[in-house]
Amino acid sequence: MAKDKEELSAEEIAGIHEQRRVEQQQEADRRTRGKEQMASVWSRRDFFGRLGWSGFGIVSLATLLAGMRSSFPRVLFKPDTTFKAGIPDDFGIGEVSEKFKKDFRVWIVRDDKGFYALYAKCTHLGCTPRWLTAENKFKCPCHGSGFYRSGVNFEGPAPRPLERVRITLTEEGELLVDVGVKYRSEKGDWSKPGSYLAV
Ligand code: FES
Repeated sequence: MAKDKEELSAEEIAGIHEQRRVEQQQEADRRTRGKEQMASVWSRRDFFGRLGWSGFGIVSLATLLAGMRSSFPRVLFKPDTTFKAGIPDDFGIGEVSEKFKKDFRVWIVRDDKGFYALYAKCTHLGCTPRWLTAENKFKCPCHGSGFYRSGVNFEGPAPRPLERVRITLTEEGELLVDVGVKYRSEKGDWSKPGSYLAV
């Protein structure tokens, strides 16, 4: 049978208080541990959650970029290499016109049967030759190569004639030059249509 409180000695009362204090401390410790465990679980969930969303974001972005890329066709934009040079009557027979040399690196030559267009680039190392009217020849200032008015090389280190570029007539009767199409004499190109325009 339990003793009444009044019957307990001071020592026994102190023991009871001590036991309660220990029990309360144990309970508090247990709660703290529980909270720490939960916090640990949630922080791991946060990490994997963030990882998952990051992966999803990256995949979505890659898909979006791939979609945008496929919306634009792979087209190579080349500059226009053609220009209109005027009507045939703008050129005198026997003339070597330097009108288009600065902008298009081309001489337009008219002989008694028609036109050809020479590309103003030395076939030695690529300098720009000059037309010397008095000497009736093209002369390269770099190493002295010389070319007849036909474009054929005859002096200096240039190993082959100047190149011709395409010359044709538009439906309106204008000369149309295309610097993007070249004709090389040593390959037999000067007999091809476009390398010479008969008028
Ligand atoms: S680059 Fe013309 S002669 Fe050398």
